[in-house]
Amino acid sequence: MAEHKKPVIIYGGSFDPPHRGHIELAAAALRQLRPAAFYFVPGFLTPFKEYSPAPYSGRLAMLRAALAAAGLGDRAEVKISPFEAGRRRVVYSWETVEHFRRLHPGAPLYFLMGSDCLAAFGSWRRPDFILANARLLVGLRPGHAPGRGGYPFTRLSGRFPEADSTAIREQLFLGRRPARLQPAVNYLIAKKGFYLGRERALLKRLLTPARYDHSLHTAALAAALAPAAGVQPQKAALAALLHDCARDLAPAALRRLCLPAARRDAALRETLREAPVLAHAWAGAALAAEKFGVTDPEVLEAVKFHATGAPGMGTLARLVYLCDMANQGRAFREAGLVRRLAFIDFEAAFRAANYVKLVYAFAGGGWVHPLSVQLWNSLQEKKSG
Ligand SMILES: [Fe+2]
Ligand SMILES: [Fe+2]
Repeated sequence: MAEHKKPVIIYGGSFDPPHRGHIELAAAALRQLRPAAFYFVPGFLTPFKEYSPAPYSGRLAMLRAALAAAGLGDRAEVKISPFEAGRRRVVYSWETVEHFRRLHPGAPLYFLMGSDCLAAFGSWRRPDFILANARLLVGLRPGHAPGRGGYPFTRLSGRFPEADSTAIREQLFLGRRPARLQPAVNYLIAKKGFYLGRERALLKRLLTPARYDHSLHTAALAAALAPAAGVQPQKAALAALLHDCARDLAPAALRRLCLPAARRDAALRETLREAPVLAHAWAGAALAAEKFGVTDPEVLEAVKFHATGAPGMGTLARLVYLCDMANQGRAFREAGLVRRLAFIDFEAAFRAANYVKLVYAFAGGGWVHPLSVQLWNSLQEKKSG
């Protein structure tokens, strides 16, 4: 029957979130190949502690919203397959091809991708198996011309703009509405509180508008520096967003939050005696755990030491310490210098941040926190050792 000869298209990806780049590619493939079936196959994504991407159910809802907005929601041939996500492990593309080959014996099978993915195709598992069972269907993305002599593929006509999911998520962590997402998808993300939306909503109620802005500025820099510092961007954004979460609390509430930790933490007791305002960092860590449900010790450490610093603080804590002082919202000159340096040499910028903060502290003529001085000394030892 002629029906059997109609093509079947598979389109895998994380769809975290689904953006216009995905939808435009799919729409072109539907238009040009008129397939019997077009399967979106959202992948299973490794939950990275609590920094898993949007959950499968959420990615499914966003994909449905994106398809509906593009007028593809009611097309019978357009389906979303749980094949990969439902297996609870990383699924290789050859397995997906094998699955749909079995499901549609005899049908021309196409594996859809942007040309940005084509260069890596040779390093996938079992590329020969994929090519024996399916034909690559490639949409050209600017700056990713398919090289000559590579794997055979069918080219979709048209050009398909680049859409970088990492950059899109970075915008979402800050509460922006990326233009690369359809309004319906942006709406759903805001409504469901995906991509730290839940945390931002809670935070907004705790902080003055100026402090909330400062937290967003800190998170923007933290997310931008995260990949170079070797930190997961969502984790960096979360720690930076929450670093001052206790800063606007009344002194009594701040003390209450500090009490449990103060029993076993001499540095905190000293802080409460000598410079109680700095205790907002310890109180923030307690509040991040209590109100925001943060359990990651690295995030809690970053909040706790953002104001004073401490010798031996971890990478995330160093990142938040630096971003708190050097973010775009800071007007003093050194902030811009440290910020620019951070994109070139993160550790040098961290030492510079400690230096600048100490200079300001000494210039103020008051008590200087011993942890800040200890941090300074530990960095000098490292340099000479
Ligand atoms: Fe602070
Ligand atoms: Fe701050």
